[in-house]
Amino acid sequence: TKQPLKVLVTGAAGQVGYALIPMIARGLMLGPDQPIILHMLDIPSAAEALNGVKMELVDAALPLLKGVIATTDLVEACTGVNIAIMLGGFPRKEGMERKEVMSKNVAIYKDQASALEQCAAKNCKVLVVANPANTNALILKEFAPSIPAKNITCLTRLDHNRALGQIAERLNMHASEVKNVIIWGNHSSTQYPDINHATVITQEGEKSVREIIANDKWLSGEFITIIRQRGAAIIRARKLSSALSAASAACDHMHDWLLGTPKGTWVSMGVCSDGSYGIPPGLIYSFPVSCEKGEWSIVQGLKIDDFSRSKMEASTNELLEEKSLAYSCLS
Ligand code: NAI
Repeated sequence: TKQPLKVLVTGAAGQVGYALIPMIARGLMLGPDQPIILHMLDIPSAAEALNGVKMELVDAALPLLKGVIATTDLVEACTGVNIAIMLGGFPRKEGMERKEVMSKNVAIYKDQASALEQCAAKNCKVLVVANPANTNALILKEFAPSIPAKNITCLTRLDHNRALGQIAERLNMHASEVKNVIIWGNHSSTQYPDINHATVITQEGEKSVREIIANDKWLSGEFITIIRQRGAAIIRARKLSSALSAASAACDHMHDWLLGTPKGTWVSMGVCSDGSYGIPPGLIYSFPVSCEKGEWSIVQGLKIDDFSRSKMEASTNELLEEKSLAYSCLS
């Protein structure tokens, strides 16, 4: 039998936490034969709610769950963790300046970077979900220099899955029959959902999405807007953010990173750029990646047309601007 893995979830008393924790504890993230010990962190004002989640985990009598820590102590939360899922952050409230929100999150991620660097297991793998996800991950990477940069990622799998879902709906197919969409860039409204390399399975074999949909206007207009605005649409409908699909995507992200992607299939992950596709090295940018043996690698050699190039650059520029805003909060 496998040794338990320690999984940290920050912001665990929040909405995404409530959806994600049972998924992790039932083996949807790390596999059905992987025992886990959950480390749940939140801030003191949420301590009582966090303890309520712990009570529910006891009540669920989950076979894979070998232990639960519910704490507001950052060091206790980070000690020995193999996996860290970062949901905790400071949300933008009405009337707040962008810089104010950025400054709160930069402070949080700087502290958490130091705690992870000092206390986490050596090869700890990190997924940042909390917004601004790419820039929070960037700060975490900069302030935890002894954690390999390749171990620090952010979530754009929700956007990726949304793109699969929209293509499938449009074609009256199932999402599992669509693959290789790409989310480039920032997890924000400048992200570029790219279907130029996506394919669907048909009775006559694999066909390109472009060939089958053949409606350029929809593909380069409405489709992109739907994906970029989907989060806002969910909030309008639910009066709450998209916690179920975010939690599901976080499981997919870690699952595929650790256990691998099927041959010929890629997924989107926010990772540290190595300069591929002309993206500035060091930026946390969403790329198409394939995974094997716990390592991701950026899919190389895809042809990028002028339309795609300009969208990718717009998102790059936004990330560079966020980076300089974040750094201005540090000084
Ligand atoms: P929420 O507000 O319900 O939960 C956030 C939790 O974080 C709260 O319980 C809060 O007390 C806690 N928290 C705040 N500061 C903390 C700190 N310093 N340490 C530990 N915990 C702290 O928000 P929700 O809906 O659960 O979303 C979580 C985050 O994920 C948000 O930033 C949201 O914008 C982001 N998100 C990102 C998505 C993506 O695709 N990348 C998708 C959906 C949400």
